Formats: sequence, C-alpha cells, structure tokens
Amino acid sequence: MAEWKLDSASAEETWRLGMYLGQVITDPAVILLNGDLGAGKTCLTQGIARGLGVPEDEAITSPTYTLMNLYQGRLPLYHFDLYRLVDPDELEELGMEEYLPGEGVAVVEWADRFEGLCPSYLEIRICHRGLDLRTIHFHAVGTTGRNLLEALQAAWQQQR
Ligand SMILES: Nc1ncnc2c1ncn2[C@@H]1O[C@H](COP(=O)(O)OP(=O)(O)OP(=O)(O)O)[C@@H](O)[C@H]1O
Ligand SMILES: [Mg+2]
Repeated sequence: MAEWKLDSASAEETWRLGMYLGQVITDPAVILLNGDLGAGKTCLTQGIARGLGVPEDEAITSPTYTLMNLYQGRLPLYHFDLYRLVDPDELEELGMEEYLPGEGVAVVEWADRFEGLCPSYLEIRICHRGLDLRTIHFHAVGTTGRNLLEALQAAWQQQR
C-alpha cells in the first residue's frame, strides 16, 4: 500500500496530472476515482485519455447515462461512471469484471459505490477545498497500483 497527496489549484493542473498519469501507463491498469459532484474526476480522466494517446479531437465526456465509454489510445481506455448505478447486478450484466483489469485501462468514476471491484488498483480521491482548489489523495494497492503511483510521482516531480 502506498499513499501520496498533492494540491491542485486549477482544472488545468488536475488535467495535467491526469495527462502525466496517462503517459506513464504501459500496462493494463485499474484507476478508481472518488470525490463529490464536480470534484474533477472527469477533468482528470480527460488528461489521462490525452496522456494515453486518445486523439485530441475526441471529446471525453462523462458516461453517466451509458455507464461506460470506450476510447482507443496506446491501450484501450474504458471510462466508467457508476453514479447512477443502484444494483450491483448491473455491473455483472455490463461484464465489468472483464475490464478490471482487462486489455486496457479502466477508469471508474464513483468507484466507492461498489467495494472490492479489483485487488490491484490506484485509487484517486479528489476533495473540494474551495472554488478552484482541490486536494488529490492517491492510494495504491497491489503491485500494478504501486508501480503506477511511483511512475506518476517521478514524472510529476521531474516537470518542476
Ligand atoms: N483544481 C481543479 N481541478 C479539477 N476541476 C476543477 C478545479 N478547479 C475548478 N474545477 C472545475 O470543477 C469542475 C469539475 O468537473 P468534473 O466534471 O471534472 O467533476 P466530476 O468529479 O467528474 O463530477 P461528477 O461527479 O458530476 O462526474 C469543472 O468545471 C472544472 O473546471
Ligand atoms: Mg464526472
């Protein structure tokens, strides 16, 4: 288990953090996103998508009504949003286990609505601190999650 936290002072900074995360991903991974409405989960996902090489002209929108959107980058990106999900059986219908992990990168907004989705993951919790200020907490579990967090920390620290 590994932890990290940092402050983001703008949507652009959160997006950039996501972009670095997307850039350091080399293998299938599971990224669980938590935080209130409007915290910045989709904003972070948009950065991850860009870092993963999803083309710039593809709009990354929250899959609130479809549960999952698929994008093609260096690896496939499965963008889930569980906000409207009430029944865990729906996850099964969706075949969600196949994505956790699957061939690509699963990014799951509102992941804490369902515990125990996957044994190795990087959880990112975004906390509202003010109009534009957010504190972003990272919690890595398992080898894949920890490796990803280490790679992100290195990339983030190098940019400064
Ligand atoms: N530091 C910041 N990081 C991220 N977003 C920020 C920040 N400051 C302001 N914002 C704004 O907060 C909003 C975040 O919206 P976003 O859709 O990413 O949130 P969300 O967590 O996905 O919400 P939802 O739970 O509704 O899916 C955007 O309007 C963004 O411009
Ligand atoms: Mg969202």
